Amino acid sequence: MHLNRELHRLGTHRSTNWLEVICPTRIQVRYIDGMTTHIGAEVGQIAPTVLLPGDPLRAQWIAQNFLDDVMQYNSVRNMFGFTGTYKGQPVSVQGTGMGVPSISIYVTELFKDYDVQTAIRVGTCGGLGGTKLRDVVIAMAASTDSGVNRRLTKGLDYAPIANFELLEKAVAAARTHGVNFHVGGVATVDLFYDDSDALKILESLGVLAVEMETSGLYRIAAQLKRRALTICTVSDMIATGESTDSAERETGFSQMVEIALEAALE
Ligand code: HPA
Repeated sequence: MHLNRELHRLGTHRSTNWLEVICPTRIQVRYIDGMTTHIGAEVGQIAPTVLLPGDPLRAQWIAQNFLDDVMQYNSVRNMFGFTGTYKGQPVSVQGTGMGVPSISIYVTELFKDYDVQTAIRVGTCGGLGGTKLRDVVIAMAASTDSGVNRRLTKGLDYAPIANFELLEKAVAAARTHGVNFHVGGVATVDLFYDDSDALKILESLGVLAVEMETSGLYRIAAQLKRRALTICTVSDMIATGESTDSAERETGFSQMVEIALEAALE
């Protein structure tokens, strides 16, 4: 498998000017020698499908353990990005950092400048009622206390949702893997350490878990007409403070990455 040839076949070797013409949008990205401010890849080095872990070392771990024919395309700010193949299909994996502002930078540049079509976040979440430690949560929608989406909607409450096709494929893959999984709403919160009772209210509304990125990812995907999904494993329980150890996190993470990669297959 020649990665560059396959990327070329998929039409990702395009000039920056071409991207500017076909992606007219209010989102502006600055270029440094054909690269973006935060991603040092040349156009064509990133696959149309990208997995998005928050932790850049997880990106490296995914590339090393799940992809073939891997090349590293980014080390700007140590936010590593890699491209390889999974079952012969080009796939990239890019660290995003934590929180809506950080993931927003990476997905905007990936979608707008590298013509990425499909983005699947793979991360951890805090479990609310109905979930258990190590369960997988597939995020159908993302409520949020982050203000960034409201800036665009002029205060209207917009409901960021997952791409249905990816959601269906992830559910099918989760069933095949035999993991305990849930499909429903998550809450994308700005505070990891939150002393208020806001999470209890979300729980009473049926929200399954809290994490810190999905509402931003889904909104940007909607704006740029791309496909996005979040899959996360419950790493800690909000009510009890119970949490997984690092070995358990790795096993849980493996299952989730496999589900994400299967969902990403064309
Ligand atoms: N809160 C927010 N994000 C998270 C958590 C949490 O408890 N656990 C994993 N991601």
